[in-house]
Amino acid sequence: MPGEKSDLMEAAVASAVRKQFGRHMVALRRMSDDEIADVATLEQQLFDPPWSADSFRAELHNTVSTTVVLQSDGRIIGYAVVWLIGDEMEIIKIAVAPPFRNQGIASWTLELMLERARRHHVSHVFIHVRRSNASAIHLYEKYGFTTQGKRLDYYAAPREDALLMVAKI
Ligand SMILES: CC(C)(COP(=O)(O)OP(=O)(O)OC[C@H]1O[C@@H](n2cnc3c(N)ncnc32)[C@H](O)[C@@H]1OP(=O)(O)O)[C@@H](O)C(=O)NCCC(=O)NCCS
Repeated sequence: MPGEKSDLMEAAVASAVRKQFGRHMVALRRMSDDEIADVATLEQQLFDPPWSADSFRAELHNTVSTTVVLQSDGRIIGYAVVWLIGDEMEIIKIAVAPPFRNQGIASWTLELMLERARRHHVSHVFIHVRRSNASAIHLYEKYGFTTQGKRLDYYAAPREDALLMVAKI
């Protein structure tokens, strides 16, 4: 149902799900208001232009949004924002801090999102990605996303096209 916020991901993030990645135990759970400052700081390092703290705060009150953090040893090491609207899901953001990359943490996060999509009988999952973002494109292709279109000059700083990638569930 549009905006419904209960399912596996919901249950998982309420109580946190955990997985070991190398020597790091990583927890995934719903973002709380007092974590927004740390998330916004990480966001500034990872995205240009970055979302503001207020943008993340708005997501916490957005009924179609599930906004989660990835945490290890008490530090925020990543986050994700996903919208579920009717039978469509859009992955708005997924990010992992550089020292924690290439260990499968984003893959695990994406798997949980796709599991959520299946539970909600989602037909399509959408994501926009910079066309130069090879690691993200590789990640999405690994999970069955294919490029369905291009959005010219979708991003600023630097100006760049987006690929619209879609996975059929
Ligand atoms: C994209 C991102 C979330 C991936 O996080 P991650 O935890 O490193 O992802 P994973 O380890 O699960 O998977 C990364 C995959 O990309 C591959 N990869 C890494 N660098 C690559 C490159 N330059 N070209 C192609 N593939 C690459 C890895 O080998 C891995 O694939 P594999 O599982 O087949 O070995 C992370 O790089 C990031 O936060 N980037 C900045 C924010 C961003 O661009 N987010 C996506 C758009 S919203």
